[in-house]
Amino acid sequence: MDYFGVEIAGTGSYVPARVLTNHELEKMVDTTDQWIVERTGIRERRIAAADEPTSALAYHAATQALTHAGVPAEELDLIIVATLSPDTPFPNTGCHLQKRLNAPNAACFSLEAACSGFIFALKVGADMVRCGGFKKVLVVAAEKLSMFVDWTDRGTCVLFGDGAGAVVLRRVPREGDSLLATRLGSDGNYADLLNVPAGGSLMPITHERIDQRLNFLKMSGREVFKLAVNAMVDASEGVLAHAEVRIDQVRWLVPHQANMRIISGVGKRLGIPNERVYVNLDKYGNTSAASIPIALDEIVRAGKVQRGDYILMTAFGGGLTWGSALCRW
Ligand code: UT7
Repeated sequence: MDYFGVEIAGTGSYVPARVLTNHELEKMVDTTDQWIVERTGIRERRIAAADEPTSALAYHAATQALTHAGVPAEELDLIIVATLSPDTPFPNTGCHLQKRLNAPNAACFSLEAACSGFIFALKVGADMVRCGGFKKVLVVAAEKLSMFVDWTDRGTCVLFGDGAGAVVLRRVPREGDSLLATRLGSDGNYADLLNVPAGGSLMPITHERIDQRLNFLKMSGREVFKLAVNAMVDASEGVLAHAEVRIDQVRWLVPHQANMRIISGVGKRLGIPNERVYVNLDKYGNTSAASIPIALDEIVRAGKVQRGDYILMTAFGGGLTWGSALCRW
């Protein structure tokens, strides 16, 4: 079997137009802008329109990434969509996106690893390029989390938002490989800490379950918080060690945007200064799998990354799942 290298040839992102501010949330639940900003760092988030499913968000991010990469959609041979908020139970959201993009030559599937979904999909997509026979792969992380948000639960509804981010992966000679190391992990024993209880085969939707609000997202925030910092630090130290790259060589830490206190904790433990930790959660809240590729695209479009820069990405989410990836731009 031939082995190749893989590069990120283009990035893209999209957030819906509707801005939901903390002040608006003050009118919906018993909360304050001050509490949300102090405890999370979030000031506003975006909410997709009723006629804007996850694949529509993914479409906008994907077309940007394809244009950036100079790759027409017809040349894609694989589409992977990381999402926990699919358009439909099946067909998979990759197929819904394929139809929008007109990418007839792509095989399509979705992957669900909650907020860590982009890191998982990046690793899967990269390995499909390296040794799976695929040449041009679109990896999109897209979430319409607002569909799962319980707008009566102040403990969760202030946290989440909708959005999408995308990268195009392209085959390059082996020595040009730019995804230097990845580390993925999971612990299903903690499944109940962050989940949507009903809607799958474990607990099919019934009128009673809807009345009990079991079709909405539940989270034990404090427990998740503690586990998140340790997991992201361990995974990040793992990829740095594997690639023999020191943290002071890393240009950007791009963490999953869940909570400013988690991001600061991870940055501090890794020993990277704040000015090299990318934060946009004030604008979008927690967009689950989409948060890292949205942040990556912002860095790229703002010209904040040069060729050869090291970018360290790290995420944590429901499952529990976590992962880190180190790439050289
Ligand atoms: O994306 C994947 C993973 N998800 C995460 O990483 C999220 C991890 N967890 C967190 O970010 C934080 O735990 C939260 C932001 C969810 C909560 O912050 P916290 O500092 O852990 O607060 P808490 O849950 O311990 O609650 C503290 C107090 C409670 O009141 P009492 O019991 O002390 O009287 C809550 O009822 O804050 C109260 N509270 C609120 N008050 C005003 C909880 N939510 C709100 C709210 N507004 N929105």
